[in-house]
Amino acid sequence: MDKQTTAYKLLAYLSDGDFHSGEQLAQSLKLTRTAVWKGVQQLQALGVDVQAVTGRGYRIPDGIELLNQALIEKNLCATTRELLDQLIILENVSSTNDYLLHVLKEKPRQTMACLAEYQTKGRGRHGRHWISSFASGCCLSLLWHFECGPNEIMGLSLAMGVAIVNALKRYGISEGIALKWPNDILWQGRKLAGILIEMIAESYGLCSVVVGIGLNLQMPAQPHQELSQPWVNLADIVEQPPQRNYFIALLLNELVQTLRVFSSKDLDEFIAEWQQYDSLLGQEVVLNTASGEVLGVMQGISSRGELLLETHDGKLSSFAHGEVSIKKS
Ligand code: BTN
Repeated sequence: MDKQTTAYKLLAYLSDGDFHSGEQLAQSLKLTRTAVWKGVQQLQALGVDVQAVTGRGYRIPDGIELLNQALIEKNLCATTRELLDQLIILENVSSTNDYLLHVLKEKPRQTMACLAEYQTKGRGRHGRHWISSFASGCCLSLLWHFECGPNEIMGLSLAMGVAIVNALKRYGISEGIALKWPNDILWQGRKLAGILIEMIAESYGLCSVVVGIGLNLQMPAQPHQELSQPWVNLADIVEQPPQRNYFIALLLNELVQTLRVFSSKDLDEFIAEWQQYDSLLGQEVVLNTASGEVLGVMQGISSRGELLLETHDGKLSSFAHGEVSIKKS
């Protein structure tokens, strides 16, 4: 959605969460009431929860905080400012990961963070779609470079999971957070965020990654990701409506700080931290792999970041890929 569209201009008024009459909006925007109504419909089509109440007008019940570069930058720490070459905010993009994969071709050494209000083709793991409504989530990707081969950054997704947990803690959420291998962030068993890492390795020892993070902030209750998995919003966890830009700044600070130290720090240190939040430890689980289902008891993570399962024959096996869930009894 372009900033010039009626729908976007309407958001400037409706974002406060108060009622605005159709007449008042039409007057302020120098539009007909029909044009206002069409704009409202466009917003609803993008998943924005605009209510129309006869006699009172339109409102977005909890209000909406649009992405704001100045507000984010205000809360970035010195390390993030120093190491991040650019922070870019888009209203509309196919996928923030795709955007940065394209940037990588043009500017192969830039570090960049990309945020979008809305993705038309957001991607999740295992080829799934990542669906989020306009301005109701955090769709963030980071472009980063490591001077090493791809094997040396195995386990990066675990470290990114820990960084997200630390950002949530800084935001004031101290209980209920857990991690599900390899990289789901849960709150009381429901999915709050997911990570999609894409890596481009060059033969002469440079490895570039795009770390994509999708986090639910204020998603309206509607069919969400293709995952048939329970999910939760940050707004359901904290009492006040989420301070979107402030939270994003905290998240960027944690992610950049972790990316900075990742290649020089022992993966074991991240794993030790990760295991404190392991939602599946000791549980009977089903692992779906390319070659079929494996049943076992989750025994934690190996020093290479792989899932460790004790299978029915008492053997301990490690798995680098797959999708794990608790076995239904
Ligand atoms: C998952 O399947 O859990 C990972 C979801 C990752 C979604 C994010 S949203 C920002 C970035 N852009 C994308 O297209 N995907 C990631």
